[in-house]
Amino acid sequence: MSQIHVVSPEELAKQHPYIEKVRAFYAARHNGGAPLAYVRTYGCQQNVSDSERMKGLLAQMGFEFTETPDDADFILYNTCAVREHAEDRVFGNVGALKALKRRRPEVLIALCGCMVQQEHIAEKIYKSYPFVGLVFGTHVQHRLPELMASVLLRQRRLVEIPACDGVLVEGIPAVRDGGFKAFVPIMYGCNNFCTYCIVPYVRGRERSRPPEAILEEVRELAAQGYKDITLLGQNVNSYGKGEAHGVNFPELLRRINAIEGDFIIRFMTSHPKDATKELFDTIAACEKVTRHFHLPFQSGSNRVLKAMNRGYTREQYLDLIAYARKVVPGISFTSDVIVGFPSEQREDFEQTLDLIRQVGFASLFTFIFSPREGTPAAAMPDPIPAAEKTAWFTEMTALQETLSAQRLQQLVGTECRALLEQQTGDCVEARLPDNSIVRVNGGADRIGQYVTVRITGARNYVLTGEIK
Ligand code: SAM
Ligand code: SF4
Ligand code: F3S
Repeated sequence: MSQIHVVSPEELAKQHPYIEKVRAFYAARHNGGAPLAYVRTYGCQQNVSDSERMKGLLAQMGFEFTETPDDADFILYNTCAVREHAEDRVFGNVGALKALKRRRPEVLIALCGCMVQQEHIAEKIYKSYPFVGLVFGTHVQHRLPELMASVLLRQRRLVEIPACDGVLVEGIPAVRDGGFKAFVPIMYGCNNFCTYCIVPYVRGRERSRPPEAILEEVRELAAQGYKDITLLGQNVNSYGKGEAHGVNFPELLRRINAIEGDFIIRFMTSHPKDATKELFDTIAACEKVTRHFHLPFQSGSNRVLKAMNRGYTREQYLDLIAYARKVVPGISFTSDVIVGFPSEQREDFEQTLDLIRQVGFASLFTFIFSPREGTPAAAMPDPIPAAEKTAWFTEMTALQETLSAQRLQQLVGTECRALLEQQTGDCVEARLPDNSIVRVNGGADRIGQYVTVRITGARNYVLTGEIK
């Protein structure tokens, strides 16, 4: 039985006295001036979204934000565990804070997120990084005021990583980074247990926010003028599964699409086993939903897909792409792929290359398999030498680069709707629905607005265009 904990408004209100305590603590220290927080986020958009809500709590505690740890009173690293490299980066960057803590012992350094949700990592940090004052897991982020008050007022270190299948919290305001782009989490956790992946262990079981709460948040964002809204979830298209309200992901998209406003709707990440015909039909029918789909396939080999526990075959994946292209003309695809999964052979890898050629992705996020402690794949025999995996990886990225360049060439001469995002040098960068960037001349006075762009060139993986 899953133990999802729905945090009631009353329970969240219990943080108020702690918010006041932290506020008073820093007001006394700074003679009433605002304390500064530095929040650094590793990993995926889910972590970015979590950080936005923790910043919301910090703002309630009176914090302002700084871009450097040097002048911060509170330093928070929101960590990622998805690959070894992600963890190594965090260890390196946290280690570099030791000197800062020596210089300014009053600084509170805290670590949270997926990496520290793993017991062995939390233990290592507690033992080897004594200058880290607070370590807390993914299921207690809403209790940040209480945790901070405990460390600050009692002058003791604290590790808070309760075992839990996950929480659902409403009512924490987000301090968002993106000017006209916003992330809206719609579900959390993952039940898929792909054999290589740590996420289900550190993020808990799948749970969906109530549809009304999501719709209300999107209505507010649209009213505030946000132009680009991304619905987030580890398995976003399984939204609503097992919930009594009966709103599935396509239905949620239809309801969001009906909200008034000039914005586009993106969503990530989708799982092929939950990508239904109803979903593609819905994209076709909803004018605000972007004609771009991020659909990780991970491997083109049925043998490897089975060992990964992905729940689909390459044929089923290719059928989905074909159906989508039939009902949503012009739809573009991006994907995630792993090379060097334990026992993957050259023939398997060639199946992956073949799938990449058949689909013609706009771009790919490519990874070399990284064993994650506690996952089934980490215990599988893995005889392929690292050098061979690296060679495959290079071969695959070279193929994708050629395909991406060809695709960009095909866009030359077409017209697309694009959002003017930012000025870089003499140009303005505009984002196309498929996430590619096109550089246009002019338009600096219309940043944050949609325009029609004619693509005029493609060189060195950069599109150029002109505003119509
Ligand atoms: N839930 C999403 C999905 O199912 O595709 C995203 C999961 S993860 C945050 C993003 C990507 O990291 C995965 O799609 C996968 O390609 C990659 N990944 C996850 N675990 C990995 C591992 N142990 N080694 C290498 N890549 C991994
Ligand atoms: Fe990880 Fe698989 Fe879940 Fe994605 S679907 S988060 S890859 S277990
Ligand atoms: Fe990393 Fe956690 Fe996201 S492991 S990729 S931050 S869900």
